[in-house]
Amino acid sequence: MKVTVCGAAGGIGQPLSMLLKLNPQVSHLALFDIVNARGVAADLSHINTPAQVTGHQPSSKEDKTAISEALKGSDIVVIPAGVPRKPGMTRADLFNINALIVRDLVANVGKTCPNAAILIISNPVNATVAIAASVLKKLGVFKPRKLFGVTTLDLVRAETFLGGMIGEVPEQLKGKISVIGGHSGDTIVPLIHFDSSIAAKVKNIADADYNDFVHRVQFGGDEVVKAKNGAGSATLSMAFAGYRFTEYVLESYANKASQAKIADSAYIYLPGIEGGSELAASLGGVNFFSVPVFLKDGEVQSFKRPNELIGTDKEKKFVHIAVEGLKKSIAQGTNFVEGSK
Ligand code: NAI
Repeated sequence: MKVTVCGAAGGIGQPLSMLLKLNPQVSHLALFDIVNARGVAADLSHINTPAQVTGHQPSSKEDKTAISEALKGSDIVVIPAGVPRKPGMTRADLFNINALIVRDLVANVGKTCPNAAILIISNPVNATVAIAASVLKKLGVFKPRKLFGVTTLDLVRAETFLGGMIGEVPEQLKGKISVIGGHSGDTIVPLIHFDSSIAAKVKNIADADYNDFVHRVQFGGDEVVKAKNGAGSATLSMAFAGYRFTEYVLESYANKASQAKIADSAYIYLPGIEGGSELAASLGGVNFFSVPVFLKDGEVQSFKRPNELIGTDKEKKFVHIAVEGLKKSIAQGTNFVEGSK
């Protein structure tokens, strides 16, 4: 498998690339960045695992060879390129800069390796995935089953925070809780009431603690931004989460994940998948939504419906709130591409 990381020299890109270098399924790891890609590649290439590592860095703004070389023949393209948040910023504040970066990178993916699975990490994910879809549609190469907004960090956080509250090993909560919706503030909806094996413990959580848990999953990113005090947002936990999802996609190429009982969520274009148009209609016309996805050959085969996972009226209410927030972000992303040349 050839995996390309765009934004590979960044805070997320470097540790994510290192984790990918350790995966035996990766035969070629191509690192693209506008700075230091060759340095990071040289460094990682000394690790004694099979993946061949190449670094690709444009020599000028006009140089298109570096990106084409990085993407040529790629099976999976992971995109953590762009600016992160500083204290006081929301993910939406990143739109002006990151929208352009994602638009141009995805256009290159569409032209160079249109069959690759594309994993978007760059924020605001709620809008950048809509940008990616519109760019690919314009190029006539949109494969909705292969476009993923990476929302795994929300799930990783939910497993960690809930595990701490109910005295379960967070790893053991994999598949027993879910996070759906989008990837910012109250568009993030943790669902913790559907699995009978943890029901008794979850039922005992006091209301105030439950509200704190939901808030922490929705705004956990702010804790990191504040603690880093201007030096960026989550990078190491995000690299872990980004790797967890990329590994899931890699395994699906080996046909293992198609039988997976545990499905991580990703933010996908619903109408492109069987049953998705009905779900989008039931969500008030929202076409992009994060749901647990089952994969095969790097493609979404099917997804879990929110109705199978929502356990309380409160959770249902959170979904309604998420839908309202998503409508605006999705429209912003789509309009950005339609309004640009
Ligand atoms: P960073 O600033 O440390 O790294 C970004 C990298 O992207 C830099 O190396 C930069 O040179 C590179 N870059 C900029 N323009 C580029 C272009 N046109 N082509 C290729 N590379 C380019 O930022 P960090 O902390 O790694 O965050 C990256 C993105 O990930 C941000 O947008 C951040 O908001 C987002 N993020 C997403 C999360 C999620 O859950 N989906 C969680 C945390 C961050």
